[in-house]
Amino acid sequence: MLNMAVFISGNGSNLQSIIDNVHKTNIKGTIKFILSNNSNAFGLVRGKRNNIKTYVTRDDETIINLLKEHKVDLIVLAGYLKILSKNIVKEYKEQIINIHPSLIPKYCGKGFFGNRVHEIVLQNKEAYTGVTIHFVDEGIDTGNIIKQKKVMVLKEDTVEKLKNRVLKTEHEILVEVITDICKKYNS
Ligand code: GRF
Repeated sequence: MLNMAVFISGNGSNLQSIIDNVHKTNIKGTIKFILSNNSNAFGLVRGKRNNIKTYVTRDDETIINLLKEHKVDLIVLAGYLKILSKNIVKEYKEQIINIHPSLIPKYCGKGFFGNRVHEIVLQNKEAYTGVTIHFVDEGIDTGNIIKQKKVMVLKEDTVEKLKNRVLKTEHEILVEVITDICKKYNS
């Protein structure tokens, strides 16, 4: 069984997709705990509803202790808006994945989060945007890319409409990637 920790800062719809499609299914991966830097994150409620342990902390040492205590093999950053400390990144090299709502190298790095990403895609009249899952290294959105999926930009798109379509793709691709990692881990 692959032990996961999911780090969130907000709504946690990506977390929900992992709960529904990996944690509660026969795919050999389990969420040991959910961690948030924000005590108001709705994702914490989702965790509690599913009897998953939740923690709120910003303290590095506490985070490392939790990861050790729960024997975590994979950290999933699912809308986690805090930069991970160098210590964690070093210790969990190639064991931390992040989801980003654009096709990296486009529209990523400092400042590119939330609506900003979709606003600029629309401003620049891109024909398509997408989603990237990548390993986390010391930079912001610079780690090795694991998988990407395109999303068409439509004429009638608003930030909200585009964001929702991208989010739907995030939910799919995240489960696909975690399922692959679980398969490799358990083989
Ligand atoms: C997603 O767009 C994710 O890519 C980004 O933050 C958003 C989080 O959404 N980093 P949710 O909290 O999973 O609903």
